Amino acid sequence: MTKFYELSTGERLARLRVEDAIDDGDLRILTDEPALPTAVAANMVENQIGNFPVPLGLADHFVIDGETLRVPMAVEEPSVIAAASNAAHRIARAGGFRTSVHRDGITAQLVFTNNDSLSSDNGGLTRFVREHEPAIRKVAREAHPSLETHGGGLRGVSVSVSAEGFEEIDLLIDPGDAMGANVVNTIAEAVAKYCAERLDGLDLLMAILSNDTGNQRAQSEARIDFDNLPTRDMDGAEVARRIVAAARFAEISPLRAATHNKGIMNGINAVVLATGNDTRNINAAVYADLSEQRRTWTKWSIDEERRQLVGHIDIPLPLGSVGGAMSTLPMAKFSLKLLRNPDARRLMGIVASVGLASNLAAMRALVTRGIQEGHMNLQFKSLAMSAGAKSSELEQVVAGLRSDPAKASLETATILLNQLRNTSK
Ligand code: MEV
Repeated sequence: MTKFYELSTGERLARLRVEDAIDDGDLRILTDEPALPTAVAANMVENQIGNFPVPLGLADHFVIDGETLRVPMAVEEPSVIAAASNAAHRIARAGGFRTSVHRDGITAQLVFTNNDSLSSDNGGLTRFVREHEPAIRKVAREAHPSLETHGGGLRGVSVSVSAEGFEEIDLLIDPGDAMGANVVNTIAEAVAKYCAERLDGLDLLMAILSNDTGNQRAQSEARIDFDNLPTRDMDGAEVARRIVAAARFAEISPLRAATHNKGIMNGINAVVLATGNDTRNINAAVYADLSEQRRTWTKWSIDEERRQLVGHIDIPLPLGSVGGAMSTLPMAKFSLKLLRNPDARRLMGIVASVGLASNLAAMRALVTRGIQEGHMNLQFKSLAMSAGAKSSELEQVVAGLRSDPAKASLETATILLNQLRNTSK
């Protein structure tokens, strides 16, 4: 059977339709209808004048906790989907990704200023919170009555260390399957008002969630047999050792860590965007997680006994699977459906796995032939396709472009394609 990536866009859609992965309504969204109707877009942002489409593709070969998935990714960088698919394929041959998720809640900060900035009354605030906790819980419940029926709610109230005349109450709020910004901020503002009205000597400065969501974390582990790692000129064991060295270098070099992490975020941001999640929230969360002790989220090691490379990612991913843009953007709804409508925990595991795959693909290329060869091949393929080459003609046109990279252009691809067709007449 022709591989998914060798098909044209139309053939891919036909295959998805035959596989029952999409229905006629999905087909219309992907082809005929505007992906985002003006009536919807105009109500989403102020001063809307148009839409900004980016390609949506599917990363193939993902096996996550035993389930095989094609993962939707919205991204403009040509190599990102190819790289994730390639790494996922190597990982699938050893059983796929195993994930685990901690989704304990989002912290909201209620910040007060002490009128007498020299005398912080942290003890007084602690006493206040202890005495008023039942009432605070009631205020939180009433601020968002449906949250508890969706499995969420206020999980904890605490007083944070005060300094420089600031006093802080923290709320830990479980947003259920929502990303949570609206829910958490609504509850935070209601509780802050209740507290401010009863706290003498403290002025409410603000109440807002923190995007430092260290307790909404996803872990994923992947193994790759050495036999699935070799390149034309390097054996698998050597590739594995070089990948472990590259990953270790990212832990000790801040310069390198930034790029290593960009490779992880290539995959993560593309799925976050495709599923209608808030990319700025995810970026704020992941970078807040980094410190001198943790320069990156992935670790790679070798299992000598099983002759495998082992990768692990542990990353904050405060994603939602319901509400917000997920309910309004047709493409986001479609992406979630392709992922079989995961709950937020499942989506977190999927996205972490894509990040790990992207990291593996980048490092394998870097420590063997460098990344440009793969990038150039994709570029040649895209020129050949733009010239009109069919799947059966691609390889030869790409080979022709590769033989003289300096002359690679749409014009050269068209000449090569015409030559190929003339000689095979
Ligand atoms: C390019 O988009 C991403 C890489 O630079 C990541 C990395 O260096 O690990 C290839």
